[in-house]
Amino acid sequence: MALRLGDPAPDFTVETTEGTIRFHDWIGDGWAILFSHPRDFTPVCTTELGEAARLQPEFERRNVRIIGLSVDPLGSHREWAQDIRETQGHALNFPVIADADKKVSDLYDMIHPNASDTFTVRSVFVIGPDKKVKLTLTYPASTGRNFTEILRVVDSLQLTAKYKVATPVNWQHGEDVIIVPAVSDDDARKLFPKGWKTVKPYLRLVPQPGK
Ligand code: BEZ
Repeated sequence: MALRLGDPAPDFTVETTEGTIRFHDWIGDGWAILFSHPRDFTPVCTTELGEAARLQPEFERRNVRIIGLSVDPLGSHREWAQDIRETQGHALNFPVIADADKKVSDLYDMIHPNASDTFTVRSVFVIGPDKKVKLTLTYPASTGRNFTEILRVVDSLQLTAKYKVATPVNWQHGEDVIIVPAVSDDDARKLFPKGWKTVKPYLRLVPQPGK
């Protein structure tokens, strides 16, 4: 069955380009992003992994470890890594799982038979320090993902895990946020003593806390 938000992220032990990893131990106390791509040596995947490598310092700054996956074997990942460095200008700087036996793909429901019997779709799982699933995304093989958007969601997830706020449409780090409806005005006065702007009683905007 598909994983849903709030579900425990299944643990596994697997071979990667950076050696054997036991997933939960590897995550440690931070956040993780597990993402699959359909195949090595394919154009969209090549651009995606190069972009993820370019953004690695941004993930690190947010205490997020990223890990890729496809059903190709380790030797193929290693060979393809040279093409990624050569064509994208960024060498792989995170592990990529060699899931030839589809163990992890099955655990995370990354193979969608009506799209392809054989290859993983473009899945993204953001996993919190409590090892629970915080976000899922599924893209088809033909559409490369926007890793800047994934970073933006991480910013929202990390903020809303800490404060009783939600983030509005197209929110970017540093912009005003929304006080969650479950917080009464009385409680909001204690939580946000500098005040907020009431657009409607259910839509209260406040500067991003902790900035
Ligand atoms: C790609 O990464 O370019 C790709 C992979 C599988 C199917 C279509 C495109």
